[in-house]
Amino acid sequence: MSQLFEPNRALSKQARIKNMCEYKELCIQADEDFEGYWDKLAREKIEWFKPYDRVLNEDNAPFYKWFEGGKLNVTHQCLGRHLNSRKNKAAIIWEGEDGTRRIITYLQLFYRVNRLANLLRNKFGIQKGDRVVLYMPMIPEAAFAMLACAKIGAIHSVVFGGFSADALRDRIQDAQAKLVITADGAFRRGKPYMLKPVVDEALREGCECCEKVLIVQRNFEDIEYVRGRDYVYNEIVMQESKYCEPEWMDAEDPLFLLYTSGSTGKPKGVQHSSAGYILWAQYTMEHVFDVKENDTFWCTADVGWITGHTYIVYGPLAMGATTIMYEGVPTFPDVGRWWSMIDEHRVNQFYTAPTAIRLLHKEGADAPSKYDLSSLKVLGTVGEPINPDAWMWYYEQIGGGKCPIVDTWWQTETGGHMITPLPGATPIKPGSATFPLPGIKAEIIDENGNPTPKGEKGFLCITKPWPSMIRNIWGDSDRFVKSYFGDCKKDGKPVYFSGDGAMYDDDGYIVITGRTDDVINVSGHRIGTAEIEAVLGHHENVAEVAVVGRPDPIKGEGIFAYIVIKGTDSISEEVYMIQELNKLIVKEIGNIAKLDAIRFVPGLPKTRSGKIMRRILRSIAKKEPITQDISTLEDPSIVEKIQNLVQF
Ligand code: PRX
Repeated sequence: MSQLFEPNRALSKQARIKNMCEYKELCIQADEDFEGYWDKLAREKIEWFKPYDRVLNEDNAPFYKWFEGGKLNVTHQCLGRHLNSRKNKAAIIWEGEDGTRRIITYLQLFYRVNRLANLLRNKFGIQKGDRVVLYMPMIPEAAFAMLACAKIGAIHSVVFGGFSADALRDRIQDAQAKLVITADGAFRRGKPYMLKPVVDEALREGCECCEKVLIVQRNFEDIEYVRGRDYVYNEIVMQESKYCEPEWMDAEDPLFLLYTSGSTGKPKGVQHSSAGYILWAQYTMEHVFDVKENDTFWCTADVGWITGHTYIVYGPLAMGATTIMYEGVPTFPDVGRWWSMIDEHRVNQFYTAPTAIRLLHKEGADAPSKYDLSSLKVLGTVGEPINPDAWMWYYEQIGGGKCPIVDTWWQTETGGHMITPLPGATPIKPGSATFPLPGIKAEIIDENGNPTPKGEKGFLCITKPWPSMIRNIWGDSDRFVKSYFGDCKKDGKPVYFSGDGAMYDDDGYIVITGRTDDVINVSGHRIGTAEIEAVLGHHENVAEVAVVGRPDPIKGEGIFAYIVIKGTDSISEEVYMIQELNKLIVKEIGNIAKLDAIRFVPGLPKTRSGKIMRRILRSIAKKEPITQDISTLEDPSIVEKIQNLVQF
């Protein structure tokens, strides 16, 4: 059993949930009257244009409907309703990598969003339900664009700026987006980098749906413009009115799509709702980070991921907080950049990923001591398991031993936090996300749907619906049902399976053990091995390929590819092939999926029916002993041959 850290007393006293009794009390309330629990929250937290008639409709499960009949606009929740009391409060404090700063108040943000919303409506003919792809750097205009879409009921689909033209094209096509909003580029590691040429490349063929491109000028580098298609935001947005009539949306109308990797096939367009999503974004901001009126909140994610959606844009703004947005890398101009920003902006809650903590710990263990980090109250992590070493450094060196760490487990599909400590209540321990939030029925079960005993791994399932859950996979309802409700059952009924394994430790704390499917987690980014295999398989010299994850001290997992090559066995050819294959990956997916290691092997371990035994390949990559029965393989001798070839 690892050490427990009790909550900081001073923080607990002022926290919304002050101790475990209060936490348990809420869990009991939610258990005894599930709908009543959510009903109370939805009434209290959301300013409805029209109240809903029904809390939860389960008639067509797993296509659950929450708050049916209700009407709202998410931007009213995030902006409009704050104007009476917070119009001159900083909504977004942005820092460019070059040190440029912009402070945007709630009133200014309201106007910015309205002008852009009008532009989308009037100039580009965007209407309720249309899809708009955002391919943006970390600049405030990314938030303006998300909110402008929400204002007029358009569905945004933000594509992470690190994805390649091919990956962007796939997402534009799948969503049949009418418009792309992008920027010339931005700054990274002190140099300009470009986005617009990637959009040009993506639109070169097969994107007839996309008629126009709106470009925000950020780095002012030269770019090419396509006449009649491309428009410069900076030149035309101010011509629009600063007032805009919102589209009043049904609670269940989609707010956004966000593509994420699954274990098979192409990335899935995870579809989120309006009311349920915003309710949970706000509620978790309040309870998990315990943000107060004058606090400054900083989440270091990119807006291209769900963490950026919920905890840079929608969550902080829904609760009227001040959110920090930073353009660049954590190591520019040096490894103290983030700590200097915490000092400078007096940040109160700081939320980042274990991979960044590991990197900053390794590269600059003493850097934090040069800054005043005393404003911090709560620290958070997300995206992957955090190792005890990194946890302790974060706790002691960044939090000064007084800030609880909320290790938040959740997913693109869950919309917001699911399993996490509450900073004023939960005794925390390194490596555990602790307990589910009240109202969230997270259970670890075996293949028969029974709870697993302490210390035994099982499937992490959510056995009741929750308001911010994924509603569908865009354009593929069958895949939605199969991907999430096809694997696990409880009491004979399909339940949401996260794809993660987990176990209860001796104290009943939840420990996430990682994905059980063919998804790997590289620097907190989810990547499907099937996607990488599909790309590598396109190369003319690749006969067969299998990709697995391998532990990496900084990235969490690295990408390890086994390749059966056609027509060559010379070493120089292999070196050339490694470069070739990585080029292909960068072109078709992006840098985030670059291979960490490749081994050329004479064959792959397959069952007699031809299924590749990835578990064996995972064990070999991790240098673990093989525990699986290999006698049933088509060619058992292949295992030893591969083991001999995999030298580290
Ligand atoms: O495996 C889990 C891991 O990240 C996956 C979700 O990835 P994504 O949809 O990209 O969302 C990341 C940000 C919410 C999960 O299935 N994961 C997320 N948080 C944690 C985690 N693993 C361990 N501990 C966490 N706190």
